[in-house]
Amino acid sequence: MQRRKPKEDKAGDRAGNKAGDWHRRAQQKPDSSDAAADTQKSWYSHVLSVGKFVLLLIFIPPFLNYASLQREGLLLQPEGGHLIDIGLGQKLYINCKGAGQPVVLLDAPTGMSSDVWFQIQEDLSHLTKVCAYDRVGLGFSKRAPQNETTGMEKIWRESTTGRMVDDLHRLTKEASLQKPFIIVGSELGALNVRFYSHIHDWEVSDLVLIDPIPEDIFKEEMWQDYWYKDVVPRLQAMQFSAATGLSRLLLIAGWMQQPLVGLNVSEDLIRRQKYLLSNPAHQSGAVDEHFFLNESAFQVREISKYKPLSSATSVTVITGDKYDELLPTQINEMVARLQEHRLVQIYPQAQFFKIAGVDRRMIYRNPLDVTKHLVDSGHD
Ligand SMILES: *[C@@H]1O[C@H](CO)[C@@H](O)[C@H](O)[C@H]1NC(C)=O
Ligand SMILES: *[C@@H]1O[C@H](CO)[C@@H](O)[C@H](O)[C@H]1NC(C)=O
Ligand SMILES: *[C@@H]1O[C@H](CO)[C@@H](O)[C@H](O)[C@H]1NC(C)=O
Repeated sequence: MQRRKPKEDKAGDRAGNKAGDWHRRAQQKPDSSDAAADTQKSWYSHVLSVGKFVLLLIFIPPFLNYASLQREGLLLQPEGGHLIDIGLGQKLYINCKGAGQPVVLLDAPTGMSSDVWFQIQEDLSHLTKVCAYDRVGLGFSKRAPQNETTGMEKIWRESTTGRMVDDLHRLTKEASLQKPFIIVGSELGALNVRFYSHIHDWEVSDLVLIDPIPEDIFKEEMWQDYWYKDVVPRLQAMQFSAATGLSRLLLIAGWMQQPLVGLNVSEDLIRRQKYLLSNPAHQSGAVDEHFFLNESAFQVREISKYKPLSSATSVTVITGDKYDELLPTQINEMVARLQEHRLVQIYPQAQFFKIAGVDRRMIYRNPLDVTKHLVDSGHD
């Protein structure tokens, strides 16, 4: 458009047949209304190009992230891991190491994948067979679309303990794990393994709880505030950041760090953690588990009331001297009080171990301490 304007002028001048005029007018600037129109046009085109640029910025990172996730999902599944169909099209990822009996089954903390156990699993696998799995929605256990309902789905909501235990039970059956096993869970995982042991008591010889979430904790306002105003919104932000591709950019720039670090963390394990941090499906699974934790706790409280644990099952509770060193002392003290007080009542046979200087992250920050206590307490 801008180019054509002077040409039209030229044509008009030639018709006037005055060469001098033609020169003079060619050197003149276009008249003021043309100038305004042009400024407007260039302003528009400027806005358009900025707009395109912004659109690119908005759409390209999620698109690239999505494309990378597709590729990484195939490449990063660890060797030795399997996806096992537990019925209704739902597959669960399980990875077992070592050989022998009794089998040790590991259930991860709230919102975390089986990778969190890598060091403990490695160290225990010299003694016996040790299996870790991903709960539905986390890690490599992609949630299958639900188009059918069984009895269990009507009773327990997705991402609550009852449902997870039903899944885990199907998994142990389909994976033909030798029973009875030693079942170890941390945080939400501890709620799950308690529920499992109460319901399927002959399948579990030993129950190990690492920093268990006390089932009464959501009665405490301080905890509710911490959980629903701090933890859950933070995870929702992580989910949003993963979905927009921002997490991937932050990881590439080094402004976001994966939780498992250290000498023994392999290159693959680092890439897998980055994959999960950038994966909105995994992050959404993590949000759901956190969001419904109060319901999971409630379910465990009910089951403890109506179906007590067999006295033949040994119980070990391992805690650090703080729940989370980053939290105020009041919250740490409250968790510790509830952890001991309730569990002593429910499991009179329980042995308690408190490890100094560790908190809820001990299974990946201080795995040697945990392994030592697992072995010392006579389970292997
Ligand atoms: C859900 O539907 C799809 C296709 O409609 C089918 O392949 C799949 O087996 C179904 N899953 C269940 C759980 O019935
Ligand atoms: C690294 O792994 C080896 C073998 O499992 C173990 O002996 C060692 O203690 C681990 N190091 C750390 C820092 O955990
Ligand atoms: C759990 O918390 C949510 C949100 O605060 C609430 O709607 C729900 O009723 C609670 N469930 C239980 C069992 O307390």
